[in-house]
Parts: sequence; C-alpha cells; structure tokens
Amino acid sequence: MVTIKELDAFEVLDSRGNPTICAKVILSDGSVGSAIVPSGASTGKREALELRDKDESRFLGKGVLRACANITEVISREIMGMEAYRQTSIDDVLKSVDNTENYNKLGANATLGVSMALARASAHSLNIPLFKYLGGINAATLPVPMLNIINGGSHANNTIDFQEYMIMPLGFDCFKRALRASVEVYHKLRVILDSKGFSTSIGDEGGFAPNLKNNEEPIVLILDAIQKAGYKPKEEFGIALDIAGSELYNNGIYHLKGENLKLDSKELVSYYQKLTEKYPIVSIEDGLSEDDWNGWTYLTEKLGNKIQLVGDDLFVTNAAILRKGISQNVANAILIKPNQIGTITQTLETIRLAQANGYKTVISHRSGESEDNFIADLSVAVNAGEIKTGAPARGERNAKYNRLLELRHQNKLLAYNAKTLFK
Ligand code: PGA
Ligand code: ZN
Repeated sequence: MVTIKELDAFEVLDSRGNPTICAKVILSDGSVGSAIVPSGASTGKREALELRDKDESRFLGKGVLRACANITEVISREIMGMEAYRQTSIDDVLKSVDNTENYNKLGANATLGVSMALARASAHSLNIPLFKYLGGINAATLPVPMLNIINGGSHANNTIDFQEYMIMPLGFDCFKRALRASVEVYHKLRVILDSKGFSTSIGDEGGFAPNLKNNEEPIVLILDAIQKAGYKPKEEFGIALDIAGSELYNNGIYHLKGENLKLDSKELVSYYQKLTEKYPIVSIEDGLSEDDWNGWTYLTEKLGNKIQLVGDDLFVTNAAILRKGISQNVANAILIKPNQIGTITQTLETIRLAQANGYKTVISHRSGESEDNFIADLSVAVNAGEIKTGAPARGERNAKYNRLLELRHQNKLLAYNAKTLFK
C-alpha cells in the first residue's frame, strides 16, 4: 500500500508578487507531488476562506505562514499514513478536520494545496499523467479556450467597467490550430491599439488594458483584430464577456462609471440584449451580482436560450449554491475555480452536478496565478468543454496553454469539439 509519508509547505510568489502556498506531498514509495495555489482579486463573497496572516510587518499583511503551518502541523498529523490513492477520503478528512462551511480554520489555500499535491503525487506514483489519474478513460476532449485579451474592472487601472473581453476560437477542428489563430488575433490587436495611440501595457491576466471611451469599444477593436488577422468573426471567433457584475453593484443599482450610467437589473439586461444583437457574443459571465438572484432569473429568461450565461461569483464552485441555481433556472453554465471551494473532490462533485443538469462547465484560473498548470489537466480529465486562462501572454497564463499543447501532442486521440459546443 502506498501511503502519505510527509507534507511540506512554504511561501512562494504569485504572478502579482503576492505570497501564496507551495504544498508538497511525499509518499511512501518516494513519489512527490507539489502544487501552487492561485489567488483571486474580484472574489465572490461566498468563496472558501483564503487564509492570510494579516501581519502588516510582512508582505503588507498578505503572508501565508499560518496556512503553511496548518499543512505541516495540523493536516499532516491527520492524514499521515493514509492510503495515497484515496483522494476522496483524504479530502473528506480535510473537510472534517476544519469542520466549518468555508475552511475558516485551516484556510482553503492550505486544503487545496494539499489536495492538488496529493493528486499529483498519486499520479506520479502510478506513473500516469495527471489528466488520466483524474479522468481515467473518460478524459477525451481538449477545452475551447476563452482568451481574455482586453482587461478592465479590478484587473486593470483603466476606464473599462467590464472585467474581461475574451475571444473563443469556435470555428476550428483542432486545438493547436485554434490557439494559433487566437495568438494571431492577440498580436493584431496590439498593432491596432498601438496605431491608434492606445497603451499596449497589459493587465493581470495578460490582456491589454487601454483607456477606451466606453464598454463597447473593446468589442469593436477585437472584431477588427480578428478580421485583420485573416479570420471571420462569428464563424470562427465568438466574443465572451466577464462583467464581474458584483463589482459594479450597490444597493440594487449597477454603476458603469466609464459611461456614467446607473442601471437597475432589467435595464442592464436590456443593455446586454442590445450588445448581443449587435455583436457575435456567445457567453456572458457574472452579468449580474451574486446578490441579485431575482435579476439573474430575469437575465436567464431573456438571454438563456441564446447565449451561455456563466455563474462565477454567483456559484463559487459550490455544489449547494449550484443546486439552488438549477432549481431556480438561474444561469446555464458554471465557472470552476478549485480554490473557491477548497478541495479537488468538492471541485469534481460540483462539475458532475453541473454536467448532470445540462450546465456547461468552464475551468478557470485566478487573476493571481503561478506556473502551476493543474487546471489544464483538470479541464481534459472532466471533458469540461471550456477553459478560461487569460491572454496568450505572461508565463503563468501560457503554462496552461503549453500544457494543453503538450497533452494534445502526446495524445492524438483527444478531440477538440468547438464547432458543436454551442450547437
Ligand atoms: P479573480 O477574477 O480571479 O480576480 O477573482 C477572475 C474572474 O472573475 O473570473
Ligand atoms: Zn469571473
């Protein structure tokens, strides 16, 4: 029997220069798995706790030494000697040791670090790739990427209210070809922005962060970039938005500061209706706030049959909240961020629930990331269909794209089903 022999954890840096956890699990057969936990900026209220030291004398209070100590001193005592391949049982132990709804004691950064590192160590021990360990013979498809090529909201200090403007290469039969086309569009966009005198500096997720005059202009520029790169908007590329609506919401009103607009839910939904009539928008994430469930019902009624409506802050990868969404007919897709919920087992449970109820699943990075590419394997393991991992720029974003390229190179049978994704 292969058992857990040792746990280790230490502080490393994420892509924003903030400390985060690197966790290591060492097994009795000598196999090692390590994992780096990501970190969000526009976090949902109901996310599992990211435990920070709040010691202002270190890293402006953002240290994670307490979470590291929870791994090496608390968690290690509880799971030492357990059979390594029992991921579900071990994740259950993490949950019961913490014994709060949202990992308020141990920190979800501590539990997720262990959970990811354990899965990796077990895959190494069995000498199979992580996606096979997680997905077995069901793992069959590469995801359609959503590439965030213009950044606004809390990921950039510019005038754009909406957080993410993404392209989705839907008109291709091959992941590698689709990614190449996306990269070409990204580079054309840089040339266009530069020629118009806009900044080509980039935001947290690698997309450009220019000061544009309204929230529609990024779409116009992206459509131009698609055409100038030699591709067809709509047929070959769809546009996806992440509004991050919770960030715009206050007392029942959405404030689009860049356009000096104050809208209620219905007015914002009709704003989206107009946008979707005018442009090839295929997906809107967090169109409304996590606290505006009535608005979400209305949004789903109006647009749910036409486009993908993704709940991120709304569902926070939480099966119980997703269940409420399913029963109330809210949204038709879910963003999956393992650190919102705290273990790989719970992440897989939420994915299964979504898929069983016809909700699409989008595996997602966080705005604060690292070279860890776990989510690339996860997206293939569960046939998620979609992955959101930033622009094709910055090492921490490309780590995921490069892993998907590697998986495709080594597994020629993996399909890319973009053309039927929204059919
Ligand atoms: P976050 O944003 O990682 O900063 O929370 C990503 C998103 O909203 O999808
Ligand atoms: Zn989001």
